[in-house]
Amino acid sequence: MKIGIFDSGIGGLTVFRELIKKLPDHHYIYLGDTARLPYGTKSKKTVLEYSINNAKFLLDKGCDIIVIACNTASSYSTLELKKYFNIPIFNVIDAGIAGIKKKENSKVGIIGTPSTILSNSYQKRLKKKKIKKIFAKPCPIFVPIVEEGLIKNKYADKIISENIKNFKKINLDYLILGCTHYPFLKKIIKKNIGENVEIIDSAIHITKQIKQYILKNGLKNTKKNKKDIYLTDKSKYFEKVVKKLFPSIKLTIKLVDIR
Ligand code: DGL
Repeated sequence: MKIGIFDSGIGGLTVFRELIKKLPDHHYIYLGDTARLPYGTKSKKTVLEYSINNAKFLLDKGCDIIVIACNTASSYSTLELKKYFNIPIFNVIDAGIAGIKKKENSKVGIIGTPSTILSNSYQKRLKKKKIKKIFAKPCPIFVPIVEEGLIKNKYADKIISENIKNFKKINLDYLILGCTHYPFLKKIIKKNIGENVEIIDSAIHITKQIKQYILKNGLKNTKKNKKDIYLTDKSKYFEKVVKKLFPSIKLTIKLVDIR
């Protein structure tokens, strides 16, 4: 099966990493829209337009399914992409929500980009699940901590602790990592929020959903285990960041113009 994945840049590689680990024998096509990132501060109109371009590119490549590996794009384009394109579309928001098992009395925290939090995409879905105690906070500063390789820096711990300090007082049941960069910070977040809070990493849940879809539809592995990575802008800086964050994944990056 050909699995198409897109994100604004490299955050979606956390989803890609989980997919190739659990479902290795497929042909993966990853598109990172590095020329137009960040998505996390942009409007619905712009993110939707970019997402349509990205999905068209993956369809032209012959993908059987599309994975929106960006929370902002998932928030602003899932409904429209499902309407426009006749292909199964998976998104990280619904996947994260599927990870919330306890119901009504659960206290759920969400951290994400400003656009994801403002879109209310998680909040609306949680309310549909009858969860009323919802606490959301944008944490835009977490993205540069990851991209600048500051994960182990002492200031990263301080910044993260400061950003989630109000959540600590609430005794959350769940904390949703509503940005695909945040799984890199899982350990520091866990340390600061406390062991009893279940951290929701959409990469894990979307991989389960795709595995189920493959099994249900009797789709065969292609045995190709092929990985194509496309970026809409390819700078030395970016290649360095990718290498640092994903030392175990050997990637040959191709440049593509999708506009
Ligand atoms: N990967 C994006 C997300 O999950 C965040 C990065 C960006 O702002 O482009 O929302």
